[in-house]
Amino acid sequence: MRRLTALSLLLVVPVAMAAGYVPDKYAATAYKKAQTAGADVVKNPKEGDAAAITAGQAIFVAKCVTCHGTGGKGDGPAAVALDPHPADFTDGGRWAASSQGTKQWVVLNGVQGTGMVPPGLSPDDAWAVLAYIHKTFEPNVP
Ligand code: HEC
Repeated sequence: MRRLTALSLLLVVPVAMAAGYVPDKYAATAYKKAQTAGADVVKNPKEGDAAAITAGQAIFVAKCVTCHGTGGKGDGPAAVALDPHPADFTDGGRWAASSQGTKQWVVLNGVQGTGMVPPGLSPDDAWAVLAYIHKTFEPNVP
């Protein structure tokens, strides 16, 4: 029995670590503010909308790649200088940690104390760029 417990620990721990994106204090505060504002439960009306996704791509290239990188991995040219690092949008655990409503709140309001300053998008453009990011970089969520 004891051996079985040790074995299951060996199996469970790496799985938990792989899934485990833990928001830093800045992101956690932003998530909380989005929740207080009721933004976390709002769905992305542009999700899967082909025209919005094309528009979102142009926005991403113009306003996000310097930090989030052309492949969305958070490794753009400005990323090295930033602590915390820009979000890696290909990290499924990280994507799942906040709703698209929360992400829109982040795009509109920034993550205070980090390089994620509000890029000055309209609410519609924020939805469009998130629809693009979701479609293009996040592999695990339909
Ligand atoms: C100057 C650098 C910079 C630019 C430009 C930038 N970001 Fe960020 N972004 C960051 C950093 C740094 C974080 C991580 C904050 C943290 O983890 O505390 C972040 C986090 C985020 C998050 C939160 C992800 C999560 O895990 O909750 C979203 C969404 C996001 N950025 C979207 C965008 C979009 C969309 C654009 C372009 C319109 C953009 N960012 C432009 C630096 C940047």
